[in-house]
Formats: sequence, structure tokens, C-alpha cells
Amino acid sequence: MFDPQLVLAERVQQALGSAFGSEYADADPLIRPSQFADYQSNVALSLAKRVRRSPRDVAQALVDAIKAEDVCASIEISGPGFVNLTLRDDWIAAHALRQLTDPELGIEPNTPAETVVVDYSAPNAAKEMHVGHLRTTIVGDCLARVHERLGDRVIRQNHIGDWGTQFGMLIEHLLDLGEKSTLARLAAGEGNAFYQEARAKFDADPVFAERSRRRVPLLQGGDPESLRLWQKFIDETVKYFNRVYGQLGVTLTDADLAGESMYNAMLDETCAELERLGVATMSEGALCVFPPGFTGRDDQPLPLIIRKSDGGYGYATTDMTAVRYRVRDLKADRMLYVVGADQALHFQMIFAAARQAGWLTDAASAEHIKIGMVLGADGRKFRTRSGESVQLSALLDEAVERASAVIADRDFGEADREKIARTVGMGAVKYADLSVSHDSEYVFDFDRMLALTGDTGPYLQYATTRIRSIFRKGGLDPEQARGTIEIGDPTERALALQLLGFGATVRQVGETSEPHRLCAYLYETASAYTAFYEKCQVLNTPEPVLSSRLALTALTLGVLETGLGLLGVPIPERM
Ligand code: ARG
Repeated sequence: MFDPQLVLAERVQQALGSAFGSEYADADPLIRPSQFADYQSNVALSLAKRVRRSPRDVAQALVDAIKAEDVCASIEISGPGFVNLTLRDDWIAAHALRQLTDPELGIEPNTPAETVVVDYSAPNAAKEMHVGHLRTTIVGDCLARVHERLGDRVIRQNHIGDWGTQFGMLIEHLLDLGEKSTLARLAAGEGNAFYQEARAKFDADPVFAERSRRRVPLLQGGDPESLRLWQKFIDETVKYFNRVYGQLGVTLTDADLAGESMYNAMLDETCAELERLGVATMSEGALCVFPPGFTGRDDQPLPLIIRKSDGGYGYATTDMTAVRYRVRDLKADRMLYVVGADQALHFQMIFAAARQAGWLTDAASAEHIKIGMVLGADGRKFRTRSGESVQLSALLDEAVERASAVIADRDFGEADREKIARTVGMGAVKYADLSVSHDSEYVFDFDRMLALTGDTGPYLQYATTRIRSIFRKGGLDPEQARGTIEIGDPTERALALQLLGFGATVRQVGETSEPHRLCAYLYETASAYTAFYEKCQVLNTPEPVLSSRLALTALTLGVLETGLGLLGVPIPERM
């Protein structure tokens, strides 16, 4: 175990058991960072009532019972009954060195490993792919990477919107415009405009509307020509999605596509099973589940519509089926739905209904990882100046262009500049999405996300390349720098202590699905390194200090590289 907070928690817990009896051995020792020591335990204050002794008394008993000579330099009572814990420098140094030689850099795997289904990205083939999808894509990809690193079996599910009645009108519009030109437009990312044209025609032209309506049952009934056109439509749209994923360096591939249409053949069975279980009932011609605790206006129970009165299936039918499939067929232990916060009610109802059906049990969890809205400078939903929704690939191109301006004064060759700008631009966009808590809204602002100072992607990229250049300058290989770590200066101590928290942070991101914790951690790490570097010479120092400082530098580099890798933020060669 590397994280001092966890090590201390274990020791204090043992002391609780031996001082107060086994019933206290699993009390939370409440270890927190401290102003006057490295950490403090606050447990004496909360325990005092239970054991009817004064908090200081409890603290004293605890101090007497803690066995941690090997970990702590001092253990002292302060204030009303806090137990201040100061780590030994040699403990910090030894563990930092162990972390450096550990191939996992202190990240301990989940035991037992879990099967984690991550539902993310999920743009719609016939509506807009907007910045909201960019954010679900980036956050979901980070969670998938983190669980993989923790040793879990990760199954990515890109639940794209590739089915629904709107395809009637889209196919008819395609036929009007011609197959070839339509498909070219879709692949270029003009799906939105195409959809809007079809919609306008549908509203204005009754003949077109009628044709569109007639196309729907044809498609749903499996008419080969309708299916062929639909498939083309999807294929070209997916090409565009893939282009955006490629630009972003997202790990999704075609193998992860599990769109709404995938569930078509299972929907009848979903309805039948829900009816058989008595979970779904007919209401005004529609098959509905009324999960307990959900009420709408006038306290009326809120229905989850499984089959519409016209016999059609909708978003809820597919999602109910997806839950069942993920639990039964994919054997999910944990399902993460990385989807816009505005769908919170939908998922609450889906999960409640799935629990009623016995598809979701305590053996598997389903969590909606709510993604907050991305806003424009005006504080409203992000759009282009002309008010249309933004084409994502164009937005990403703009990020690269602006990144190129940020590094304009650097003396790189043309080819390098282009490559570096790409890396910096994507890093900036991705880090901006990840560094705020996933459920809060934030303003999409190129200037801020591309800033070279502060809590930004480019700052962390720069910090990492600067550390690499220390090794380059010294003609040294970071892999070789692992002989010894000794703590001298307080900035060395603070840096080493910070580095020891890496594994625990990654685990926390896995548990809480909150990538912003890793961002904050990496930012603090880069800052701790800067403080160290300003105070301590690294290259021009005599041994053994040289080796020790190089080892700390190598560990910092490893943590930053691995951490940024988990975020999916690329690192440029130079910057
Ligand atoms: N396509 C949906 C949208 O754009 C998101 C799908 C999320 N996943 C799910 N299982 N419903 O809003």
C-alpha cells in the first residue's frame, strides 16, 4: 500500500480495536490532511460519546495503542482530541522508491476484477452530434481507460441513436436528393442540416409527409430496400463519428457500436416478459410500467411507456432491453451510463423498472453518470454565432488552429508545429471537459482552455515535456533513475508525499466516476514539482542527492504520463 492516508487508517483502526474492543475495529478512523501535521485522525471526537469518555481521554488511549513507529515520526494529541500524525521521512522515501520501481506506479488492481459496461458517446445518426456528445465521449472514454487500468473487464457500448420513426422521412429525403450526394454529405458531417431539411419538408409538404409515414412500417417490417437505404445512412454517419473519434484520440471502435437498432429483435420479448412478470400493465392502450415513487402532475403515477398504443417501441423499450442484455449476456457487475444530466428521470425510471423486473439486482449496479450541459459565452446552450448547432469536426479543427496560434512564437519546423498544435488543441478540449465535475455545466471557452498556465491541459502537457527535457539535457534515461530517494528539502518531502497518492486517486476515480479528481491531483502534482524545481537543483548536484532528485523527477514524470494517459490527454514531443 502506497497511500499514506490508507496506511495510517489501517494502523489507527487496529489501535481502535485493541483499545476499545473488537466492536470498534471497523469504525472509520477519519484520517484527514492536517494543518499542523501530515494527517490527523478525528475519530476520538466522534467516539467519545459512544464510549463515555472525554475526547482527549479517548485520543490518549488511541495514541498509546497505535503501533506505527515504522511509519510515523510523531503522534500527538492536539486541541480537543485530534490525533496529529507526522510521517517519517525515511518511510516516505522508501515508499516513493518502491512506487517508482512498481510497474503499476502504485495503482493497485481491483480485486476481484469487475465487468464494467460503459455506455458513452452515443450520438444520434439522424439528429445533431453536439458538444454534449463530445463531453459524454470524453468523460466515458476516461472512465473506460481507468477501469481497464484497474484490471476490470471493460465493455464499451456506444448506444447510438440509429432507429426510430424519423428514418421514414430521412429515407424519403435521401431518395429525393439522390443516394450518392446524400451519403457524401453524411460522411462529411452534414447530418444535422440534412435532418433539418427533411423536417422542414415534412412539415410543409403533405405528400412528402405521407410518403415518410408510409416508409416507417416498411422499414420496421424489414423491407429489404428500406433496410438497405437505412444501413447506408447509418454507415456514412458512423464514418463521420469515427472521424471525430479519430481527431480526439478516443478509444471507441466499430466493435463497440451497440446502437438502438441492435435491440430490435429483442423488444417483443422485453414486453412479453414484463407482462408475464406483472411488472407492465396496459394503460390507455399502451403497455406501461409504473415504477413506485414516480409521480407527475396531480400526483398521478408516472408511466414508463414500453409499447405505445400504436404498437411502436421507443427509447424506454430499448433501454429496458439494454439493461437486461447487459446483465444477462454481458454479465455486467457495474453499468455506467455516461449521458446528459437532462435524462436523469428517464434513467431513474428505467433502473427502478428493471429492479422491479428482477433484471437489476444487488449483484449488479447501474449508475447514471450525469453530464452537465456545455454552454456558450452567453450562458446558453453552446451554438455557433449564427445560432445553429456546431459541427463537431469543425470545432475540433478550430481548437487546433487556435492551439497553433498559442505556440506561434516557438521555433518548431512546419511539420512539428502542425503535430504539436493538434496534440495541444485536443488536449485542451479534453482536459476542459474532464477537469470540472461531470455534472456541472461549464462555459466552452477556447481562450481559457488553451491557456498555458493554470489548471489546463496545455499547462500539464507543458509541465510534462519540461520534465522530459531535464533528462534530455542531462543525457539521461528516466528508466535508469531509480537508485535511491532521500528526503532533504521540505519541497522534496511535499512532492514525494503528493506522488504517493497517485494510486489511491486513480482508484477513487474508478469508484466515484469522477475524472476531475484525477485532473486536480495531476495539477497539484505538477505544482509540487514546480515548487521543488524552483528550490532544488536537479542536474548539477553531487551524488547521492543527484540520484535521489532524478528518481523523484522520474517518478513525477511517470505519474504525469500515466495520469494524462488515463485522461486520454495526449502529450506532445516538445512544446
Ligand atoms: N442517443 C442518446 C442521446 O443523444 C443517448 C443514449 C444514451 N444511452 C442510453 N442507453 N440511453 O441523447
